[in-house]
Amino acid sequence: MKLNSPRGTTDIYGEDIDYRNYIINTARRIFEVFNYKEIITPVFEYTGVFSRSIGEGTDIVQKEMYTFQDKKGRSLTLRPEGTASVVRAVVENKSYFKNLPLKLFYIGNMFRYERPQKGRMREFWQIGIESIGADSTLMDTEVIWILNSLFEKLGFKKLVLKINSIGCDKCRKKFLLEFRKYIKPRLSKLCKDCQDRFEKNALRIFDCKKTSCKNIIEEAPSVISYLCPDCKENFEEILDCLKTLDINYRIDNKLVRGFDYYTGTIFEIISDDLKSEQNALGGGGRYNNLIKQLGGPDMAATGFAIGVDRIIMLMKQLNLGIKKQKSKRRIYIIKMDRGCRDYSLNILRYLRDMGIICDINFNSRSLKKEIKWAGDNDYDFVVIIGEDEVRTGSITIKDIEKFKQYKINWKKEKKKIKQIIGA
Ligand code: HAM
Repeated sequence: MKLNSPRGTTDIYGEDIDYRNYIINTARRIFEVFNYKEIITPVFEYTGVFSRSIGEGTDIVQKEMYTFQDKKGRSLTLRPEGTASVVRAVVENKSYFKNLPLKLFYIGNMFRYERPQKGRMREFWQIGIESIGADSTLMDTEVIWILNSLFEKLGFKKLVLKINSIGCDKCRKKFLLEFRKYIKPRLSKLCKDCQDRFEKNALRIFDCKKTSCKNIIEEAPSVISYLCPDCKENFEEILDCLKTLDINYRIDNKLVRGFDYYTGTIFEIISDDLKSEQNALGGGGRYNNLIKQLGGPDMAATGFAIGVDRIIMLMKQLNLGIKKQKSKRRIYIIKMDRGCRDYSLNILRYLRDMGIICDINFNSRSLKKEIKWAGDNDYDFVVIIGEDEVRTGSITIKDIEKFKQYKINWKKEKKKIKQIIGA
């Protein structure tokens, strides 16, 4: 039987690892400047952590969770996103009592049983932040600012930041009354899923990707028209702050995002260059009820997550280079025969202790073949060790590019080695 990786998963290696590290390092630098601290939570949680926060009526909980029973019959789920886990961890560890607001970031793999397609995986990677304990428009601004800085630093120019407010519970209740009135006469034209959503959780109709449902939504009333004065003022303040920071945005009054935990201002960053339906590179928003729902105090929060796999895909498509640091010089040691083994091991240790990147030949090939192999594999120098070198306590260093060769007493001429290889 041929064993492939499971559908919707992928191995990450080679160039993609460079992109991935570049994205992660860029994010880490920004998080440091904004004073966010890392949190690592388990890859699986009790199912209730997700079903209670993301919402029973959402696509994720209804169709996309990898849920299984452990040997004691407990229901566990591979995390489909990071927010619920972080909130569970904060509530459990009571760290919210100290030093609010808590500003946390995470980097992790997430799992959703979706139909795989370009940019949509069953296992994918997110980088996210959660900012807990500040019900301030400045905090919404900061979170969006970080998202924007991240994409700017990665070199993106043409992304669109969509923003909307779905208001507080009171405004949403008023809106839903009107929305249901609008939908009711059109109910038979909606897909089966949306007919169910109409009964259980009408806001989720906005998440439907089917054209027939999307057309009906297009003409529907918007939640933004039903915001109470406080929510309206709050949203306008955030927009003002974004203007002050020269962060461009586009109000999208149909944006609701597919999680029940959201309240107030939500946002998404999309790219028209991603031709697939999966054009969201990141998204987030405020979730002021979730901490209480998961057993914590009544505490406000907001955050976002970005999809690392989609960003890599788009960076490659747009030829956005990763800024390569000047690579360190690399040495390949060629021991000519078994008799040179111990001498070569000592040289290898000596050079590695000096912080020089080096390898030794594990296979036996002719000297000519070894030198060619080293050149083809991005080594800058070879160090040749044969009988003569062992006898005289020396090494022969060959500069592959310059065709220059040096014979050196390695114990006495440490400085010279450094000079030659430019370390
Ligand atoms: P989300 O919009 O579901 O939000 O996911 C954030 C990003 O993860 C998406 O914009 C996308 O780039 C990436 N993503 C999602 N699903 C997939 C997939 N199947 N394959 C590849 N990439 C994917 C959240 O997860 C919220 N927890 C964000 C948040 C944090 N809200 C508040 N705090």
